[in-house]
Amino acid sequence: MLQKIKKTIGFIKNKTTLKPQIGIILGTGLGGLTKEIDVKFSIPYKSIPNFPVSTVEGHKGQLIFGTLGGKNVVAMQGRFHYYEGYSMNEIIFPVRILKYLGIELLIVSNAGGGVNPEFSVGDIMFITDHINLIPNPLIGINDKKLGPRFTDMNGAYDKKIISKAIKIARLHNIKYQTGVYAGITGPTFETPSEYKYLKIIGADAVGMSTTPEVIAARHMNLPCFAISVITNINFEGKPVEVSHKEVIDTTSVIEPEMTLIIKELISS
Ligand code: HPA
Repeated sequence: MLQKIKKTIGFIKNKTTLKPQIGIILGTGLGGLTKEIDVKFSIPYKSIPNFPVSTVEGHKGQLIFGTLGGKNVVAMQGRFHYYEGYSMNEIIFPVRILKYLGIELLIVSNAGGGVNPEFSVGDIMFITDHINLIPNPLIGINDKKLGPRFTDMNGAYDKKIISKAIKIARLHNIKYQTGVYAGITGPTFETPSEYKYLKIIGADAVGMSTTPEVIAARHMNLPCFAISVITNINFEGKPVEVSHKEVIDTTSVIEPEMTLIIKELISS
């Protein structure tokens, strides 16, 4: 694994000398943040050795290097989902690359379905913990140089950064929620009984990404911060049809608030 990582890092470092401090994974419809980044260089995934290529509508596959809120950042425009057929190793490979590029914080965004009945469409949820219902990406031979065999998942979502985000949201009068994100494989949205199950096991939101990336980051002891945009509500007795278009429409409405929070978080 380290050999593969080194080859990819060598390729990237040949292209840009920018040393990113923060890594950002831009989720479905949240690409607006890229407009705020003072882009110095971008590399399409398809040209990066060992990188998988994104297949989902609304995802551009490239790594963007630049500055945001006075910090050097690297942003993944487009991510890899289990439902696309990638292996877990492929899905988390970019996170390992971000870590080896030197980032000290991983910021992740995603679109999620609301399971908590208090939530509304368009809410922003700061993820405080997760329930991973996708195969664990660390299954298999462990490379001790990357991280320990058994990774502690307490405090996976950095409490100090969540507090900062809450302060920023309050300051700007942005409505926010906090809660537990359940990561499922997809590509189906949940049946009413599955939503009921997710609520019973303690989830507030559900989505098809993020948990593998955060697990990989924590394996390498990388602090994480993650936000879900609630694109649809699913609680019992209120079944709603969900479409990919609906998910993208909601996220574009909420984009300016998300952008503001992440920008201020980075500059603080
Ligand atoms: N379920 C799973 N993933 C999702 C949903 C949902 O309801 N909404 C957006 N991503």
